[in-house]
Amino acid sequence: MKLASEERRTPADRAPVLDLQRFLTRERHQIHLVGVAGSGMSGLAGLLIELGHAVSGSDKVISTETERLQRLGLQFHEQHRPQHGDAADLVVFSSAIKSDNPILVAGRDSGKPVLRRAEALAAIMRAKRGIVIAGMHGKTTTSAMTAHVLREGGLHPSHYVGAEIPILGTNAHWDWRGEYFVAEGDESDGTLRCFHPEHSLILNIEEEHLDFYLDLVAIEKVFAQLIDQTSGTVFYNVDDPNAARLCAKRKSAVSYGFSENANYRGVDVEMRAFGSVFSVCRCDQKLGQASLNVPGDHNVHNALGAIALASELGIPFEKIAASLRKFEHARRRFEIKYESDRFLLVDDYAHHPTEIRATLKTARATGRKRVLAMFQPHRYTRTKALCGQFGCAFDDADRVVVADVYPASEPPIPGISGQTIVDEIVKHGQRAANYQPRFERVHCDIGNALNVGDLVLSLGAGNIHEQLSILAADLVIAEKLKAIVGEEGDVRLYEPLSKHTTLRVGGPAQFWVEPRTEKTFSDLIRFCRDENLPLFAMGRGSNLLVRDGGIRGVVVHPCGGDFDKIEVNVSEITAGAGAKLREVAYAARAANLGGLEWMEGIPGVVGGALRMNAGAMGAQTFESVTRIRYLDAEGNPHVKNRDELEVFYRRFPLLENNFAISATFRAQPAERAEIDSRLRESQDKRRSTQPVAKSAGCIFKNPNSIPAGKLVDELGLKNSRVGNARVSEVHGNFIVNDGGATAADMLQLIGKIQNAARAKRGIELETEVEIVGEPE
Ligand code: EPU
Repeated sequence: MKLASEERRTPADRAPVLDLQRFLTRERHQIHLVGVAGSGMSGLAGLLIELGHAVSGSDKVISTETERLQRLGLQFHEQHRPQHGDAADLVVFSSAIKSDNPILVAGRDSGKPVLRRAEALAAIMRAKRGIVIAGMHGKTTTSAMTAHVLREGGLHPSHYVGAEIPILGTNAHWDWRGEYFVAEGDESDGTLRCFHPEHSLILNIEEEHLDFYLDLVAIEKVFAQLIDQTSGTVFYNVDDPNAARLCAKRKSAVSYGFSENANYRGVDVEMRAFGSVFSVCRCDQKLGQASLNVPGDHNVHNALGAIALASELGIPFEKIAASLRKFEHARRRFEIKYESDRFLLVDDYAHHPTEIRATLKTARATGRKRVLAMFQPHRYTRTKALCGQFGCAFDDADRVVVADVYPASEPPIPGISGQTIVDEIVKHGQRAANYQPRFERVHCDIGNALNVGDLVLSLGAGNIHEQLSILAADLVIAEKLKAIVGEEGDVRLYEPLSKHTTLRVGGPAQFWVEPRTEKTFSDLIRFCRDENLPLFAMGRGSNLLVRDGGIRGVVVHPCGGDFDKIEVNVSEITAGAGAKLREVAYAARAANLGGLEWMEGIPGVVGGALRMNAGAMGAQTFESVTRIRYLDAEGNPHVKNRDELEVFYRRFPLLENNFAISATFRAQPAERAEIDSRLRESQDKRRSTQPVAKSAGCIFKNPNSIPAGKLVDELGLKNSRVGNARVSEVHGNFIVNDGGATAADMLQLIGKIQNAARAKRGIELETEVEIVGEPE
């Protein structure tokens, strides 16, 4: 077994032998903590301040904890400078700190005592009757439960827990009145061996932290030493084979669990969506019933451990049960971020396969229709060592999106990424798993897959919860949008706009909304105005280049319902903004009306054609328009006749801030044969001169001097490319997507063409496609 601590010099190497317990708990000193922002170190800082020391600390990040501690007197430095420890009588460092840290080096060189966090904590604990809670999973919850139960039981315990615990107030507290000190013991770096508690509680033991330990044998050795160093009782989970094997042979050991031979046994366990009810027996005597407001049977186990310990300390069962009923989970332990009848979003810290399985099981038990998980692997070493187990951990998820590895302080391991986990999940037979290498897109993959009845879980010890929080905030808005468009309308989160543009390029729309009626469209406009949400109307997406970062705010796609209607009235045709131009051309044909045949060749809808005064075959949209109906920026409807409208070549300014509802086109009675021949002419022209490929139609407006296509052709730029964006060899004014092109590729190619036209011909090419959205 390799123990990093053995390579480091301990204070005994250099400093005079120190009575640490006395130094830390009975005297007042100046103490510097290196890496003070970490959850464990900030707890220690809190304890030292309460013990009366003058505490300083350094870290490269600020956290809410460092800010809170500063208010209590911590002198905080947001970097590690050697002189920060100069005034200190003692330096304590976190296990995340490298041995070449300048404060550590300076401290050692000056011969002052330098301690690991656990060494300091263990010495503080010796001033009280120590209780160490140890195990791979559930330490934080169980130590919080134990401290809470002891506190409610009137024992005034001090505590030290590795996370923010709302019910305890802070993650650590020194209570001068009480005898006990409850601490979460960290097994990750071997420092469990520092503790000599009166009691210990062993939750479970399995392979973990294989960056530090060689194997399970090495892990068990550290636990065995803790057990040997426990002067009073060892409490252990009898249902965990490794814990049971190590503890059962010990003389003063008390077991708990579901097994028949448990000293404290949970029976008649009834799981609820967010908690459980169960009875507890001591040997054969029934103590009573307990109920928990934290979910999952793993938490029943945790509670049984706390019950066993508190009972042995003399707290009556009724009092224990009453405090457990009040217990709230720690942050990031099945923490509900959003809850409605339609959706449930939960964050959990699970990052080991066993924890993931337990959390997913709990999620399943809530009875929601599907469970979608976003998982961020934590540490390269763990991802590598346990990848096979991770592959089997997601059976209870209907869909998994895996982010890249959260490194903690580790350097990357070549070949290890989120994909490693996805490969294992797929190998295990679960197909609905994908890797999202871009962290900021993880919530999009899950959000876009959301259906009513889904439970979404974020899993991991890194920062994946941030992605869930973004999803939760957007879901609140999406639900309001849904209430506006009603049952018949549609709202989707993070809809990829590459699905809705003919170019097949573009990032996601934050909110994709399909209203079906003018009234709901108008309500949407008002909502967006009140909420300060940008709103962009999108038709067929045939003349649109959406940047890769997508569109922030609401993208309205009026379609179906009112918007697809086409009505013919004598020689006038009224069509909704969502109606396809091609269908307008054929509706005219059916009524023996001519003059709109050019519409056949435009792959757009009425709304889009109006907005850019689209044209083909020498005709332009507004040559046929008699009036339009639109909503203004306040959502109020207006009707305007053609002569009231200002229209330009490929530009109609009114719709830059207003929203088309419908247009009425004028057509002329014509012979069917004549109409068919013009339709054929349009088709033939299109087929012979334009590419059949993914494109956004003509990219540039035709300059006065020469058609843009001809110019690009003459410049010899046909077939030139950036990535998978390529100038069509069929028509120089078309850029085609050969598959997987990005908006960035497109824009770069557009820029290249514009530069060449300017440099070689002195012509400013202006884009005809509308370019929208955020860059990546
Ligand atoms: N030409 C070339 N090389 C090329 C492309 C074109 O020499 O690579 C020549 C053609 O031979 C022709 C002239 O350039 O003499 C104009 O080309 P074309 O007839 O194809 O028309 P266009 O001006 O390029 C316009 C519209 C198209 C519409 C067609 C057909 C614009 C910017 N484009 O193209 O509209 O489909 O007429 O009516 O007004 C669109 O707006 O997205 C679009 C495709």
